[in-house]
Parts: sequence; structure tokens; C-alpha cells
Amino acid sequence: MSAGRVPPTARVPPPPAPLPPGEGRGDKPEGHESAAAAATLGAAQEQLKAAGVEDPRRDARLLLAHALGIDAGALAGDPRRKVPADAAKRFDAAIARRARREPVSRILGRRAFWTLDLALTPDTLDPRPDSETLVEAVLAEIDARGWRRDRPLRLLDLGTGSGCLLLALLSELPRAWGAGVDRSPGAAAAARANAVAAGLADRAHFVVSDWNQALGGPFDLAVANPPYIRRDSIAGLMPEVALWDPVLALDGGVDGLDAYRAMLADLRRVLAPGAVVALELGAGQGSNVSRLLRDVGLRPARVARDLAGIERCIVATGG
Ligand SMILES: C[S@@+](CC[C@H](N)C(=O)[O-])C[C@H]1O[C@@H](n2cnc3c(N)ncnc32)[C@H](O)[C@@H]1O
Repeated sequence: MSAGRVPPTARVPPPPAPLPPGEGRGDKPEGHESAAAAATLGAAQEQLKAAGVEDPRRDARLLLAHALGIDAGALAGDPRRKVPADAAKRFDAAIARRARREPVSRILGRRAFWTLDLALTPDTLDPRPDSETLVEAVLAEIDARGWRRDRPLRLLDLGTGSGCLLLALLSELPRAWGAGVDRSPGAAAAARANAVAAGLADRAHFVVSDWNQALGGPFDLAVANPPYIRRDSIAGLMPEVALWDPVLALDGGVDGLDAYRAMLADLRRVLAPGAVVALELGAGQGSNVSRLLRDVGLRPARVARDLAGIERCIVATGG
């Protein structure tokens, strides 16, 4: 997960006060059935603003569009659209969840990543757009080596979560095969379901394991977005992260580097000669992770930055 995306300053707020009578779910004044979208949105935005939500306007729009079963663009173009009672009820429930700082993606149960539409569960990290940096870096490395994209590569994804990295790579590498590993059985099951939904299940296999302990290899390409948040920073992350992402996906130990150390300790055993290793980085972790790679005989080759200019992924070679 990308620590750099998450301002570590935002504190977890107290839970919102209970709604006064007349404002709760299913307790709307008469006539609400015909409320227009603009009025419905205005009240919801105020509620989200009071709860400390960063972009109440955007989130209220996304949730109302979802409750209405239309896309957000259609809603923006039709502010006088009526909000039927059943949609209003769904919207109120969604706004109450968002006011408790549950991310929109978790309320909708879905996250767009690369070209994929992934289902989320409480066991999976909510994939971050910055993690697409790793997918781009791996594809660039494949091209730079002159490997054809239809080469039958063997991929390993350590800490697969929703399966986002492995599935994005498999979607671009039509003859590749991959194993996704997670210590969380729930995450491995969610990744498997996402592979089925993406039509990639015949090339993606998911294993519950402590890093690569249960695997043999060899793999041509190993990727990972490890838990890399320093343990004492977790409680101070934005509530959307601290309260809703699984701790197993966040906790990188005292210095944030425990998972890198653990996964690298035995990685070379499962790498093919000349394999590519690509690891996501937390902000400022580049030099430490580079040293850990060298310590196990891998050769850091390049670092890729995300859209904010932060070093987000390190690519190494070895095996
Ligand atoms: C930061 S999340 C990354 C998830 C996904 N790859 C992504 O980019 O969204 C780290 C993942 O590592 C898994 N994990 C943590 N410790 C592990 C271990 N010892 N062995 C295998 N997986 C582990 C977590 O369950 C979590 O799914």
C-alpha cells in the first residue's frame, strides 16, 4: 500500500453523533419521494463535511449516482432528476457509512484498477492508483529486455490482496501464468473471485502462504506491494485507511521494512536465472529497500516514480 498517498496527519475522528429524528434512514418527511437530486445532494454534502470527509461533493455524487443506478456523468447533467424513495433510502444508508469514514470504494464494494473492475472485501487492501506505477514499470522492463509480451512468463505476486497486480499483468501478457500468494485466506479467495470475473482464472492460481514458503518456482518475474507502514504510524493515518484497510496489509513493523526483509530472505530460491523483481516502495524507503535487495544478491536497476513524483517502485534483477 502506498504510505505516500496517505497524509499521516489526519487523525481518526470520534464517531458522528446520532442523526436527529426526521433525518435518519427511512424517516424522511413526507414528499421526500419527489426530492430533486440537487437538494438531496446538498444535505448529504453537509453531513459528510461535518464528518471531516475530504471531498464531500464528489463522494455524495458518486453515492447518489450509484443509488440511482446511473453513472455520475448522467447525474451531473440532470440536477433536477427526481430521487425515488427506494433510491433515497439506499443513498441515506450509503451516506451514513461514508460519514463513518468508510471509503466510497468499500461502500460500492468495487475498485477500478488498471483496466479491471475488482471486487473488494474486508480482507483485501483497497488497491491504490499509485500501484499502477509498478505495473507500468514491469511492462517497461519487459520491453527494455526485448522480451515479447506474448512470451509464456511465470509470474509471482507476493501479498496479492485483491489480486490487482497479478491480474493487471496477466491482462497485458496473454501467455503468462501467475501465482498470487497471501497469508490471508480471505484475500486469496477474493483474488480468485476477481480472476474468475476478469476471465483470467485459467492463468492465475492463488495460494495461502507465508510469503513464498509454500512455493517451488522458478519464476521469471516476482512482484510485491508489501505492508510497509511503520507500526506506530498506523493509528494516525486517515480513518479511511486506519479503520478500513486490514492491519495485515498495512503493518510493516517498527521501521516499515519487516515484510521486505521477510519476503526477500528466501526469494532467490524461487527465481529463474535473470528474473525481474519489482517491489512497491513507501515514500522514502528507496535506499533501504535497495540495500535489502543487495543483501540477498539481487541487483537494483531502476526506480519508478508515481504521478506525485514519489519513488514508488524499485526494479531489480537477479536470480
Ligand atoms: C499492501 S497489501 C497489497 C495487496 C495488493 N497486492 C495491492 O497492491 O493492493 C499487502 C498484502 O500482503 C499480505 N501479507 C501480509 N503478510 C503476509 C505474509 N507473511 N505472507 C503473505 N502475505 C502477506 C496482506 O494480507 C496483504 O494482502
